[in-house]
Amino acid sequence: MKYDFYSKLDREGHDALALDSLPIKDACVDPNFSKIPMWVADMNFKVFPGIQEAVRSRLDQPHFGYFSLPEAYYDRIIQWQKDRHDLIVRKEHIGYENGVLGGVASVIQTFTKENDPILVHSPTYIGFTSTLKNNHRTIIHSSLIQDENGIWRMDYEDMDQKIKQYGIKVCIFCSPHNPTGRVWDKEEIKKAMDVYRTNQCIVISDEIWSDLVLPGYRHIPTQSVSRDAKNRVISLYAPSKTFNLAGMVGSYHIIYNPELREAILKTEARSHYNSPNILSTYALIGAYTKEGGIWVDELCQVLDKNIHYALDFIHHNFPDLKVSAPQGTYMLYLDCTEYLEKKEISLDELLRKGIKVGVLWQDGRPFQKKNTIRMNLALPFELVQEAFDRLKTYVIR
Ligand SMILES: Cc1ncc(COP(=O)(O)O)c(C=O)c1O
Repeated sequence: MKYDFYSKLDREGHDALALDSLPIKDACVDPNFSKIPMWVADMNFKVFPGIQEAVRSRLDQPHFGYFSLPEAYYDRIIQWQKDRHDLIVRKEHIGYENGVLGGVASVIQTFTKENDPILVHSPTYIGFTSTLKNNHRTIIHSSLIQDENGIWRMDYEDMDQKIKQYGIKVCIFCSPHNPTGRVWDKEEIKKAMDVYRTNQCIVISDEIWSDLVLPGYRHIPTQSVSRDAKNRVISLYAPSKTFNLAGMVGSYHIIYNPELREAILKTEARSHYNSPNILSTYALIGAYTKEGGIWVDELCQVLDKNIHYALDFIHHNFPDLKVSAPQGTYMLYLDCTEYLEKKEISLDELLRKGIKVGVLWQDGRPFQKKNTIRMNLALPFELVQEAFDRLKTYVIR
């Protein structure tokens, strides 16, 4: 490997929520154990060096006044989308978003009113739940269902029925899906888009995880599946998951349909808050390069190794935990129902036992499924091994 995905970072006390807070407020870590961060969706690898170089060289220019997004910002997005996802985009289709969730909020504020229903799949990324709740929208869940091989599938009939029953106008589609790690194939996306089209819904397609797809799978941009999808879908992307830049802030939308785009830009202009930051702009410019692509390819191999190690370990040592193999993201979503029933303990007790020995895993219930735990595997391999060894020795027996 050309890049370093093995060194352990010294993040604690250096602006890292994943280590400076605990996933359960009143839990505690036994001081004999180091903390292994496996909750917040960020990574524990050194960033791609091209990012620091681009930010550093901008820092060397001693002026930080008002600015317009440079051409390089648009050029890099256009090239990245073409090279990585075969998506052809022009400058006018791209717009800065102050976070993907900021984009979600702007879209729902533009096209719905308070109490209006919005369709999301469940399990549901917590950020969607909080954004919709904070905006007083009514959340309607359509459950993903695991097939006979444990693969999460959409229930198109249920989506259609709920859209009709509640008169839903805006739906959120998460691709790849957090927390299940599903990478939807083209047929699946087409079928979902058929449901949205039949019901004339506007679709927010959150593709923040689109670059983190495991070897053997391929991300299909929702807008690429049909002419109708191109016009109906507001896609949200960011370099933040791909390159671990969440602390920099800086996402973007791709909207082909000029009417949708103008309406959203109007909403965003009202708050005056949707302005880019000069350093995050250069972080994107440094990231979205050919060499950045090589770094991401290596990262996906590292994640694949970690995920397969974890799945094998669980299979051999924790047969009562159920987990579906993720195809993208770096998350495992564990169903602990059988284990909890057998051992007659609660999920809270299990979570606390893990945290006590430094395994900072995350309660999966806020993602709308009971008895679940979400685990982040974007860690140097040694730490993944250490976490599972601790679980085996001290927690899951
Ligand atoms: C599906 C999904 N969307 C959005 C976000 C957050 O994006 P942002 O920080 O750009 O608002 C996350 C973070 O984990 C996510 O998993």
